[in-house]
Amino acid sequence: MQMKQQLFDLFQAQIRNELESAYKYLGMAAYFETTPFKGFAGWMRLQAKEETEHAMKFFDYVHDRGHHLQLPAIQAMATEYASPLEAFRETLAHEQFVTSLINEMYRVAVEVQDYAAQILLQWYITEQVEEEKQSQDFVDRLETAGGDSASLLVIDKSAGKRSS
Ligand SMILES: [Fe+2]
Ligand SMILES: [Fe+2]
Repeated sequence: MQMKQQLFDLFQAQIRNELESAYKYLGMAAYFETTPFKGFAGWMRLQAKEETEHAMKFFDYVHDRGHHLQLPAIQAMATEYASPLEAFRETLAHEQFVTSLINEMYRVAVEVQDYAAQILLQWYITEQVEEEKQSQDFVDRLETAGGDSASLLVIDKSAGKRSS
């Protein structure tokens, strides 16, 4: 059964938002590729891939519910940042913004009594806790490292160990 229009509009918009997230993190990967921080570059590349998977999970779902999608434009993204800390602060702020979008989708799913959509959205709500935690951890560690190159390279190395 199709979703109510109000909820479908949010799902459709969120497919673009997740792909915009992927594009944002790809921009950060492009920035890190121009620095010695290849671990962060790899981490951002994987983050972009994960955001694409988030988009595709919604993509599949709206079709399961019998909708016909439209795909609006995706905006250009920065590939220049002042420092690793600036990039991860932007990542954290972006994830907090995405959490607010997912929460709003859930609020509407409750309002229109779409129980199936609520169950799908619960996965994203849990995922956002993890996304915020990961970026907060990097912000905390990068703030602690400050301008110390050796410490920054240690954090970069640990970021490079991410496998999925
Ligand atoms: Fe996402
Ligand atoms: Fe995310």
